[in-house]
Amino acid sequence: AYPKVSKICCIGAGYVGGPTCTVIASKCTDITVTIVDINESRIAQWNSDSLPIFEPGLEEIVKSRRGQNLFFSTDILKAVKEADLIFISVNTPTKNFGVGKGRAADLKHIEACARLIADHSTSSKIVVEKSTVPVRAAESLSRILKANTKPGVTYQVLSNPEFLAEGTAICDLLNPDRVLIGGEDTEEGQLAIAALSSVYEVWVPKERIITTNTWSSELSKLTANAFLAQRISSINAISAVCEATGADVSEVARAIGMDTRLGPKFLQSSVGFGGSCFQKDLLNLVYISECLNLPEVAEYWQQVLNMNEFQKSRFAKRIVETMFNTITNKKITLLGFAFKKNTGDTRESPAIYIAKYLLEEGAVLQIYDPKVDSKQVFADLSGTLSVNLSEVVTVSKNPYDAAVGSHAIVVCTEWDEFTSLDYERMYSRMLKPAFVFDGRKILNHKKLIDIGFHVETIGCKLNNIDQSKYLFSCGEGTPRRTQEHRMRFA
Ligand code: UDX
Ligand code: UDX
Ligand code: ADP
Repeated sequence: AYPKVSKICCIGAGYVGGPTCTVIASKCTDITVTIVDINESRIAQWNSDSLPIFEPGLEEIVKSRRGQNLFFSTDILKAVKEADLIFISVNTPTKNFGVGKGRAADLKHIEACARLIADHSTSSKIVVEKSTVPVRAAESLSRILKANTKPGVTYQVLSNPEFLAEGTAICDLLNPDRVLIGGEDTEEGQLAIAALSSVYEVWVPKERIITTNTWSSELSKLTANAFLAQRISSINAISAVCEATGADVSEVARAIGMDTRLGPKFLQSSVGFGGSCFQKDLLNLVYISECLNLPEVAEYWQQVLNMNEFQKSRFAKRIVETMFNTITNKKITLLGFAFKKNTGDTRESPAIYIAKYLLEEGAVLQIYDPKVDSKQVFADLSGTLSVNLSEVVTVSKNPYDAAVGSHAIVVCTEWDEFTSLDYERMYSRMLKPAFVFDGRKILNHKKLIDIGFHVETIGCKLNNIDQSKYLFSCGEGTPRRTQEHRMRFA
C-alpha cells in the first residue's frame, strides 16, 4: 500500500506545473512541494519578485508558501529521489521533424523525465502525467520505467490531465469542474489513484474527482480541447455567414446559447483561437486518427483547424481591403498581442498571424499589450519576414502612444482595459479616415462611429456613417458589391 503522500516533486515549472503545484502547496500545507526545471533562469524567476508567468492571484500564493512548503529548484535529482509522488508537466510540443512532423506530439521531454526517474529512484514512486499527451503515452512511460527499475522499487503511472485555462488558472485550480485521474485496474493501480485523490480531496468535493482507466483519461483531455476549439470554429464559421447576410453573430450566439443542450459558454466569435493547447491537441488528434486508420475522423477534426486559419486570414484581408486595398507604409496600431486576456502568453496568438500579414503588406506596426514586453513581440515576429523588424515595429508602453499618426486600430486581444480607453483622444492623434477593426467584439461600436471612426468587426455589418462619401465597405462583400467596388476605383 502507498502511505500518505508527503513529498511531491513536479518536473516542469511552466504554465501548467507552476500554478498547479503552487495551489497544491497552498491547500496541503503538510506536503512539501518542490517544482524543478532544467531552465535555470526560469527557476531563478520563480524564486524572485517577478515570476516568469503572469496569472491573476498566482503571485500572492507563491509568496505565501515559498520557503515554507513550496520550493523551486534546479536540483532535479534530489527532488526526484525524495518524492513519493512525481508530476511530469514538461512541454509536449508538436514535432517539427521526422515522422508525424507538424502534427504528432514530441514526447522527448517526457521520455527524458522517465529515464531520469528510473535511473535515480531508490524508493517506489507514483508517477503522474500532467502534460497533455497522445493516447497510450502512459504505456511508454510505464515501459521505460519498468525496463530500468532498480531492485525493491516499483512504479505506478497515473494520468491526471490538467484542465486549467490561462488567465483564470488559479480560480480553475481552486474550484475545478472536475479532477480526472486515470490508472491501472489493478490493486496497486487503485491504491495509487486513492493516494493522488487524497491530495485533491483536501479542497475538491469528492464527487468531482472522477477516476477512469488510463486511456480514457488521456483521450478525455484531447477530446475536451478538441470540443472547445470546435465550438469556437463553429461560431466563427457562422460569423462569416452573418457578415454576408446581415445577421449578427452575437445575437445568434445568445439565441442558441439559451438552449440548455448547447449552453452559453465558448460562443464568443473572434479573430480566431490561439494558445498552446488547442492547435497542438487537435493536430495530435488528427495524427492519431490517421495512424488508427480512421481518415474520416482525422478529416473531421482537421476542419476545425482549417476554419481557424480561415477566420484569421479573413480578418487580416478585411483590414487591407477596407483601407483601400493598400496599407504600404501606413501605421497601424495593434491593441493586444497575448492569445487571450489576463495572460502574457503569446503562444499561437492570432495577433502574431495578423501582425505578420500586415507587415508583409508593407504596414508599420505600433503594438501595445499590457502584459507582453517588446522582447517577446520581436521574438514572435522574427524569422519569417523579409523586412527589417526594428524599422517597422514599435512596441509602445501605452495605447495612446501606439495610436499616434496611425490609420487604424486593430484589437487582437480582449483585455478589459481596451473597453474603457479614451477613444476620442486616440482619434485626435490618428490620420483620417481613422479605422477600428475589432477582432474581439468588445468595443462600443456605435460610440466609435459617433466619434468619427469607420468600424469593422467580426460577424456583423455596422452602419458606418459617411462611408458612402469616400469609401466602400467591401468587407466580405457579395460578388455584386465587389464588382461595384472595382468600378468605383477603376
Ligand atoms: C431536433 C432538435 O433537437 C430540435 O430542437 C429541433 O426543433 C428539431 O430537431 P428532433 O430531431 O426531434 O429535434 O430530436 P433530437 O432529440 O434532437 O434527436 C435527433 C437525432 O439525434 C435522433 O436520431 C437522436 O437519437 C439523435 N441523438 C441525439 C443522438 O444520437 N445523440 C444524442 O446525444 C442526442
Ligand atoms: C484551453 C482550455 O480551455 C483548457 O481547459 C485547457 O486545459 C488548455 O487549453 P487556454 O488555451 O488557456 O485553455 O484558454 P481558453 O480560454 O480555452 O482560450 C483559448 C483561445 O480561444 C483563446 O485565444 C481565446 O481567446 C479563444 N476563445 C475562447 C474564443 O475565441 N472564443 C471563445 O468563446 C472562447
Ligand atoms: P506548459 O504550458 O505545458 O506548462 P511550458 O513550456 O510553460 O509548458 O513549461 C514546461 C517546462 O518544462 C519548461 O519550463 C521546460 O524548461 C521544462 N522542461 C522540459 N523538459 C524538461 C526536463 N527534461 N527536465 C526538467 N524540466 C523540463
